[in-house]
Amino acid sequence: MSGTHYFDDDPSVASEPMSVEINLPDVALTLTSDRGVFSADKLDAGTKLLLLEAPALTDADEVILDIGCGWGPITCVAARRVPGAEVWAIDVNERARTLTAANAATIGAEERVHVVAPDDVPEDLVVDRILSNPPIRVGKQSLHDLLLRWLPHLAPDGVAHLVVQRHLGADSLARWLSEQGYPTTRLKSRAGFRILEVRPS
Ligand SMILES: C[S@@+](CC[C@H](N)C(=O)[O-])C[C@H]1O[C@@H](n2cnc3c(N)ncnc32)[C@H](O)[C@@H]1O
Repeated sequence: MSGTHYFDDDPSVASEPMSVEINLPDVALTLTSDRGVFSADKLDAGTKLLLLEAPALTDADEVILDIGCGWGPITCVAARRVPGAEVWAIDVNERARTLTAANAATIGAEERVHVVAPDDVPEDLVVDRILSNPPIRVGKQSLHDLLLRWLPHLAPDGVAHLVVQRHLGADSLARWLSEQGYPTTRLKSRAGFRILEVRPS
């Protein structure tokens, strides 16, 4: 990926579709990825930890937001786990959005998975759960702006689960979120990753 970044909008690297496997205790999926998106060739270790450790999705009416969907692992696992759930998958990377939409169709969830650019999310969208491996590498200010843009979409009893690498500032991010009025706790710490649980004030 030299000369481009996974957070580029519409990356210019040549397309080279590939299969990726997701193997979790309760979900096995074969999805499609491509060059020019985050962790193109495999399920990212942090994403896997989030999918293993975030509390179970159980409510059939749940509305879920995946901030920075990439090729769609979080979106597709959430849609598969909760057959009635509606999932909003957003990404600035057009190729990532195309992949997530195709993968949602592969698992038969295209009617309940809305894959859109961030600016196309309805302003009044209310979500029960945010599940995200957020784009830490965009820089602290951009990350803060991103979180302050989407956390207000949480329902009063909603919750966000974020996976963040410890050495990329997970603990200071948790403190900052709490200071912003989003009480944040460390739900899990493993293999250099933190799962942060963020609640609306
Ligand atoms: C760490 S990756 C996670 C991708 C995917 N969810 C996964 O777990 O494999 C973060 C994603 O955020 C996207 N991203 C970067 N800036 C963004 C923004 N401002 N709004 C939405 N998504 C963004 C990137 O394109 C990238 O796909």
